[in-house]
Amino acid sequence: MTDPTFNTAVTRTYGCRLPIVAGGLMWLSNASYVAAGANAGILSFITAASFPEPAALRAEIAKCRDLCGDRPFGVNVSMLPKLVEGERIADTFRLIADEGVRFVETSGRNPEAFLPILKGAGIKVLHKVPSVRYAVKAQEVGVDMVSIVGAECGGHPGLDLIGSMVNQALAERRLDIPFLIGGGIGAGSQIVSALASGASGVVIGTRFLVAEEISAHPQYKQALVSANERDTTLTMSSVRNTVRTLSNETTEIVRRLEADNPQIGIAELMPHVSGVIGRKAYETGDVSRGMLSAGQALGLTDGIAPLADIVAQLEQEAGVALARLRPQPLATQRAEALVS
Ligand SMILES: Cc1cc2nc3c(=O)[nH]c(=O)nc-3n(C[C@H](O)[C@H](O)[C@H](O)COP(=O)(O)O)c2cc1C
Repeated sequence: MTDPTFNTAVTRTYGCRLPIVAGGLMWLSNASYVAAGANAGILSFITAASFPEPAALRAEIAKCRDLCGDRPFGVNVSMLPKLVEGERIADTFRLIADEGVRFVETSGRNPEAFLPILKGAGIKVLHKVPSVRYAVKAQEVGVDMVSIVGAECGGHPGLDLIGSMVNQALAERRLDIPFLIGGGIGAGSQIVSALASGASGVVIGTRFLVAEEISAHPQYKQALVSANERDTTLTMSSVRNTVRTLSNETTEIVRRLEADNPQIGIAELMPHVSGVIGRKAYETGDVSRGMLSAGQALGLTDGIAPLADIVAQLEQEAGVALARLRPQPLATQRAEALVS
């Protein structure tokens, strides 16, 4: 049975067993992965941008629904301004609403303009931001919940680069709506820490990249297992689009180009950072090139495993962490004092 500590606004709102969200993963969070999350008791999001054709996104949602039964899942819509036109985003939200999806994870820009479509369809909006000042703004415009993803994260940590421990303490002080903490979460004790700060859950990306259900080459996953917390690089700050990825030949080239020319533009970086190269790495397992989003939680991956096993490990570790906080019976304290 789930510990009552894990009964939070996340489990109540979404109807999942655990207060854990698997955030959208470009090219990687498809129906199989998302359904594996649903069946393991967490809430996961299909990444709409991985299915640019409307028919393909509809098919993926339908497939996910078949695999999940009545367990909850959602769709992630990244709205990075430079990548997607506003009207195309609105069309994606209309499609999602039309398909009867009830939960959406947004990121990349202020979702205010799209809230009428989403709220009108009764969709709960979980908006993802890199620091608390943006979370306050999201609260003002009326999202249902926010995820605050700190500097440790894989993907886009924003420009402020605030760590997750500081984010969680600031969120407790400044937010009234339920919040989730993300960025570097890969162990159960961190979930307990987030909940203790008042968070209603955590959002995870990197720790789940080594799940069997992630549709990427086993060599890619093995490279992530072999990597540790020091094996990521931050680049692209020069174009105000900071990203944390697995250190490789590409990050070294981009890092040097940016250091040599701080005025460099996205056009000059594109031959190296194009998503097409990264997608190929997922297919071939050759991780030497491409911007492969991954965070410091790489230090906490210890093998390729079914997603349910990784979730079970997090749950078990969280239980251990909780037990540490509970007062020990006097007899146990005496016995421990004798052996120490
Ligand atoms: C490979 C990868 C791809 C990601 N793609 C997206 C995306 O398309 N949209 C999005 O909102 N977040 C994306 N993220 C961010 C995750 O959803 C999540 O917020 C983040 O990974 C949490 O930090 P962590 O990596 O330290 O667990 C991605 C992260 C990774 C590692």
